[in-house]
Amino acid sequence: MDNRELRKKFSVLDKKINGRPFVYFDNACMALKPDAVIKAISRYYYEFPGCAGLGRSNHFFSEKVDSEVYKTREKIRDFINARPCIDTYKAYTPTKEIVFTKNTTESINLVANSYPFGKDAVVLTTDREHSSNLCPWKELEKRGIVRHLWVPSKQDNTFDIEEYERILKWENVELVSMVHVSNLDGYEIPARDIIRLSHKYGARVLLDAAQSAPHIPIDVQELDVDFLAFSIHKLYGPTGIGVLYGKEEILNSPEFRPFITGGDTIEDLFLEKPPVYLDSPFRFEAGLQNYAGIVGAGAAIDFVKEIGMENIKRHVTELNKYLTARLSDYEDEFFIIGPSDPYLRGGIITLCFKRMGIVSLFMEGINGIGNILSSRKNIMVRSGEFCVHSWFNNRKISRECEKIRASFSFYNTKEECDIFADALGEIFQLEEYRMLPKL
Ligand SMILES: Cc1ncc(COP(=O)(O)O)c(C=O)c1O
Repeated sequence: MDNRELRKKFSVLDKKINGRPFVYFDNACMALKPDAVIKAISRYYYEFPGCAGLGRSNHFFSEKVDSEVYKTREKIRDFINARPCIDTYKAYTPTKEIVFTKNTTESINLVANSYPFGKDAVVLTTDREHSSNLCPWKELEKRGIVRHLWVPSKQDNTFDIEEYERILKWENVELVSMVHVSNLDGYEIPARDIIRLSHKYGARVLLDAAQSAPHIPIDVQELDVDFLAFSIHKLYGPTGIGVLYGKEEILNSPEFRPFITGGDTIEDLFLEKPPVYLDSPFRFEAGLQNYAGIVGAGAAIDFVKEIGMENIKRHVTELNKYLTARLSDYEDEFFIIGPSDPYLRGGIITLCFKRMGIVSLFMEGINGIGNILSSRKNIMVRSGEFCVHSWFNNRKISRECEKIRASFSFYNTKEECDIFADALGEIFQLEEYRMLPKL
């Protein structure tokens, strides 16, 4: 992978901030967009800015939109190896297994609000879920629909498969919903074993693939996963477009009821009867869709497929190993969250600082070191609790403890890791920093 050549495909990487280049290490939040994606989005607005036809608007723009939506859905189907539609009697009959949503959050909410939970059903998660894979279950629990349980991670933050099986054996788990690759520390759960065990005990599995889809190859048939949720904006595509994969037999079953309903979901409708819905995916895609986003998503999938998911995975883990080694001189100042082996942390390195009062020392914003890195060094990282508040609360890690997360992509370089490590080194040398008490 020629990383310098790839960088040329992102005009934004030529941008200077205050006359200097920048380092973008916030890829777990949002990936940068290659020019090809930006052009594809504007192509929709310049060339065929209409709605989907779906048999109603039979004109040039709508036919083009239908064809582009179909093409992107096919690209995504192929990207994760979902099953094609075998019912090909109509043009553009899409796979029933790929539903467009707004983002990962909406995909998970769709499952939470459509799933036909039985009496006393349990939803099982890890103890380190993103809020988007915790709030929906907590909300159902509040309404008395399910009980939420979690599998405590081992001390080194890896998955405890024995404890998982124990819970499956003793509790009425109907749905397992877990973060595939953690946005906290990049750890990948053993999804294959988790899915095999859950099926043995009669539970289905939803994988939150927000962080895995951009970094590792995924084959839903090989995994035998029941649902998979991800966002296109972390996959070098536009914001406002996400994906829910679901097995056709679940999505199309009458018990799995559409969550957001309305126009474009209906086969037929009468005043005195319940709605008759179209097949999946249309029954879940209510209202006019984000067509520009869908066209951009197609370009994003083409882009990452050309680079190759294995290459992306290898590059980001190499960077993690390199930066971990560079930071080893400063171990007194922070600890790294997650497994000590950088290869188990994929493209994410999260530091938890050991001194108190960092935020108030650097009065440049609400997040001390993150703000210093940005305002003085043009380095962009994530600060705060990374939407995994529940994990920090559970581990009783003080809010006083400042955290930053650096997350990589294929366009990041070892030189950028050096800039980051040197910048931290400079902060640690500051007299006022050294005066701060250790936690
Ligand atoms: C693991 C994980 N799950 C869910 C989400 C939510 O994604 P979105 O905000 O695109 O819905 C994120 C976003 O950072 C994430 O990292």
